[in-house]
Amino acid sequence: MSFIKFSIAALAATTTVGNAYQLVDKFSGPTFFDGFDFFEDADPTHGSVAYASRLTAAPSKLIGVVLNADNSTPSAYLGVDATTITSKRPSVRLTSKKSYNHALVLADIKHMPSGCGVWPAIWMTGPDWPSNGEIDIVEQVNGNPYNIATLHTSANCAITGNISSGHSPLFSGTLETPDCDVNSPSQSKNAGCGIRAPANDTFTIGNESCIHSTAGSAFNAQLGGIYATLWTSAGVSIYFFPRDYIPSDISSGNPDPSSWTSKPQAVFSGNGCNFDAHLKDLQLVINTDFCGDWAGTTWEADGCAASTGVATCAEYVADNPKAFETAYWLFNSISVFSNETATD
Ligand SMILES: *[C@@H]1O[C@H](CO)[C@@H](O)[C@H](O)[C@H]1NC(C)=O
Ligand SMILES: *[C@@H]1O[C@H](CO)[C@@H](O)[C@H](O)[C@H]1NC(C)=O
Ligand SMILES: *[C@@H]1O[C@H](CO)[C@@H](O)[C@H](O)[C@H]1NC(C)=O
Ligand SMILES: *[C@@H]1O[C@H](CO)[C@@H](O)[C@H](O)[C@H]1NC(C)=O
Repeated sequence: MSFIKFSIAALAATTTVGNAYQLVDKFSGPTFFDGFDFFEDADPTHGSVAYASRLTAAPSKLIGVVLNADNSTPSAYLGVDATTITSKRPSVRLTSKKSYNHALVLADIKHMPSGCGVWPAIWMTGPDWPSNGEIDIVEQVNGNPYNIATLHTSANCAITGNISSGHSPLFSGTLETPDCDVNSPSQSKNAGCGIRAPANDTFTIGNESCIHSTAGSAFNAQLGGIYATLWTSAGVSIYFFPRDYIPSDISSGNPDPSSWTSKPQAVFSGNGCNFDAHLKDLQLVINTDFCGDWAGTTWEADGCAASTGVATCAEYVADNPKAFETAYWLFNSISVFSNETATD
């Protein structure tokens, strides 16, 4: 009898702790870069880029901190070279030293790179790709005014459920390709399962309705906002909260996804994937690439050949350094939370 009472009390305590999200890591201010390694290899996606080491990046002003007028914690700056004519434009690609299993990731972004030739991304990737999977949280090419969130996995992981012509009552975006398998025979190579956000997304908090932009220069004009990624056994949901509509539980440092009333822009869920078997030990990555396998191949389709008058992405990026003065990230912070006791 007393043993049973003891067990129930212990279970109740565990449940209370488990439900609340606790801060695991916060990257911000002058120490933002300490949590990351700098990737210096040749770009695996064949871009017109040269990724710099931390020792080179700081004096070349590819990274730094930017003071804020309101004296809040300085924002972390990740830029690119905007002065040199070169076929491999200097930039940075950061990989978190820690890896995660299930998490709530809040990326408070004030500015993102955008424009013809630019391919910026915030993503999570595991060892032995694609067997441990990849979550692309923020990704956009050639200045397109919408975000595309994507999972890349090995075989037997697809997004199913209540989806009709790409639309679902669960999310505001459009599912463009349902199979997360990078080698899916029915999709182009490495497409993965991708959900494209509306350029102008809309949601309601209380009695206020808000229209906002999910990427690109209009996103920067609204001073960005917070991309929240909720990764559980049930899948991955990606929410975006524009600067003026950040829920109070996030502002106060006690995020509670169950209280968020606005629709996520993307939800990867359903019985077509065992998410725990396909997403493991993921590290956070932030980078700005140029051209390559995505921005380079859609250069004409995205209207950049017409708008720049230059036939190829690689030529444009090599010859026009000044075009990339605004191709920078500014992060107020990136915070990783967990509601589970064991995270590594
Ligand atoms: C953590 O939060 C997720 C999403 O809100 C929930 O599905 C899960 O049950 C929670 N886990 C624990 C241990 O409370
Ligand atoms: C599927 O979505 C439609 C609206 O798009 C809704 O009416 C219906 O109830 C949903 N079905 C399920 C099983 O969720
Ligand atoms: C988004 O909304 C703004 C403001 O209403 C408008 O100027 C812009 O053209 C819209 N963008 C798209 C892609 O519809
Ligand atoms: C919206 O709600 C607020 C607070 O509840 C109220 O003060 C305001 O008048 C409402 N606005 C409209 C248009 O209903």
